[in-house]
Amino acid sequence: MHVHVYPTHNQVPESELPAPIIVIIDVLRATSVIATALAHGAKNIMTSASIEDALEAKSVNPELLLGGERDAQKIPGFDLGNSPLEYTKEKIQDKRLLLCTSNGTKAVQKALGAETIIAASFLNADAVVNFLANKNKDIAIICSGTNGHFSLDDGLCAGYIIHLLRKSKKPICSDFAELLTLPFEKENFSLSKLLENAFHLNYLDSRGYRADVDYCLNINFLKIVPIWDKTGFVILKDS
Ligand code: MLT
Repeated sequence: MHVHVYPTHNQVPESELPAPIIVIIDVLRATSVIATALAHGAKNIMTSASIEDALEAKSVNPELLLGGERDAQKIPGFDLGNSPLEYTKEKIQDKRLLLCTSNGTKAVQKALGAETIIAASFLNADAVVNFLANKNKDIAIICSGTNGHFSLDDGLCAGYIIHLLRKSKKPICSDFAELLTLPFEKENFSLSKLLENAFHLNYLDSRGYRADVDYCLNINFLKIVPIWDKTGFVILKDS
């Protein structure tokens, strides 16, 4: 089992899919939204890289709920923003969603066509690791990043997942993947301390989204694996 981590989705080659299993991470906030929305009963979550495509899909299917952001704010004409706390049972149970965000949903587009695509965050790290350990195949982790730059929250989530995977497997890691696991060698690490100077975290905080940040750093709060099934992300049945 090889594990390779891409620092941002821009580094993923266009020409070939990097591994049979692709794990998308956008801790703040797209993959945290995906896990939360599915846990709260959304039927499925499609993704779109462009606002125009999302609005076009809504014009064909008016019952579709559009969620997402530009510059962390809700997009005009959309039903929901990109705050996981907005995705309550009352708003989204049994609904089909389409998410369009600045980085996370673009990372998903890079993975389309892979044998397996899953969405990971700190919220569902344990469930994701159980899934990966059982599959026992090569893994590419795509950190979505922020506007083309590496985002520490995504990188640490990748490192944490690999750290947990090592408890039952012996993955062969790229040097970057190896580096990302180092903060977790001390079992009593503090995630909020490790992330205190993280750019995107502090940006969201400055825009009034501190509650989102605190929520997204709840390790193993959700026990589900969002998996891509061609209709979008759905909950993996036995996760
Ligand atoms: C993204 O996909 O770019 C992020 O989730 C941005 C955000 O924090 O809303």
